[in-house]
Amino acid sequence: MDFTYTEDQKMLQKMVRDIASKEFTERAKEIDKSHRFPKENVQIMAEAGLMGITIDPKYGGGGMDYVCYSIAMEELSRVCASTGTIMSAHLSLCTMPIQDWGSEELKQKYLPDLASGKKLGAFALSEPGNGSDAAAMRTEAKEDGDYYILNGSKAWITNGAEADVYLILAQTNREMKHKGVTAFIVDKGAEGFSFGKPEDKLGIRASSTTQLHFDNCRVHKSQILSKLGDGFKIAMKTLDGGRIGMASQAIGIARAALEESMAYANVREAFGQKINEFQAIQFKLADMSVDIDAARLLAYAAATAHDRGEPFSRLAAQAKLFASEMAMKHTVQAIQVHGGYGYTTEYNVERYMRDAKITEIYEGTSEIQRIVIAKALMKEML
Ligand code: CAA
Repeated sequence: MDFTYTEDQKMLQKMVRDIASKEFTERAKEIDKSHRFPKENVQIMAEAGLMGITIDPKYGGGGMDYVCYSIAMEELSRVCASTGTIMSAHLSLCTMPIQDWGSEELKQKYLPDLASGKKLGAFALSEPGNGSDAAAMRTEAKEDGDYYILNGSKAWITNGAEADVYLILAQTNREMKHKGVTAFIVDKGAEGFSFGKPEDKLGIRASSTTQLHFDNCRVHKSQILSKLGDGFKIAMKTLDGGRIGMASQAIGIARAALEESMAYANVREAFGQKINEFQAIQFKLADMSVDIDAARLLAYAAATAHDRGEPFSRLAAQAKLFASEMAMKHTVQAIQVHGGYGYTTEYNVERYMRDAKITEIYEGTSEIQRIVIAKALMKEML
């Protein structure tokens, strides 16, 4: 096992860290407060090649591996979790599945614009009436000559109102349950496709989260990803990959909480000494650093398995579960280190806690990760 970064990975880490620190730090607070989607951050990421980092250079991507994707997600989310979310939904949930499952025609049609960041992607699985039980979706696509007619609503869609290209999961044969789910690529502006109002969220407030509505929306058969009935498998595999990025996002948020707690403890005084001289504070910082490093090893184990073409579903769920619960626990502790100041918006740690919470929910709740892990363990025992 090799635990060292390659030269390329080190360069990428430095580049993303520099960009995020220099370009996103100031804006992170403002866009959180105003709930403003940061188009300028997307533009900066696009210019740096981050929107297509794992996409084949043949389609204009960076051709990098999933460890690189993890590194980028950690560095972005350390500064601005909303920006990390925008990038991950675009890349791992929309662009990657088109690369992995699309026909050559669909790849040529969509990947160059998505990989360059000219267009933004989104992924729509959840609905107002179902989230964890993904196969219970109500959105339906009925065949009509060369087209499918989509009807239904999707909920909690990241990049919802801002995206240009949407990966939509819909039932094409309800009797077949999950085997009747099909993935469609739908363009913004398609007739019968509209958006609900933006969700007013606890955290990742600058990312756009909306419902999508389909009212007799006609989608040509050539927009089917892979083939009829492959949608559930595509969604599950896509989420396996996405969960690695979510683990890295949680790690980035927790790292920011640790770094700011250390800086604060180094200047704040109580009882005649810096608070970092109290073991009560030192132990919190020590625990944070151990858990962050442990979470990162899990994320890299999953990313490495992905890159080697090995099974990684359980590893990704383990990484996401551990990292997200770790980030939630330690962002709360970071507020504790900051005392009353931590409870105000003057410091960033309250934002980190609000941002950390979503990592326990989206791309599969912690409870779903435990189900995925337990099912995989039982299968591995057979
Ligand atoms: N890879 C490939 N195939 C998989 C798979 C995987 N990881 N997981 C399951 N499958 C296959 C199974 O092999 C099975 O196939 P067969 O019928 O051919 O044997 C089929 O899918 C059904 O599997 P299950 O019986 O295990 O399915 P289930 O209905 O019990 O559900 C679940 C399994 C793991 C709970 C799944 O529903 C799930 O992951 N739910 C969570 C959904 C989720 O993460 N939603 C997040 C929404 S997206 C988001 O958050 C992004 C955003 O924009 C905010």
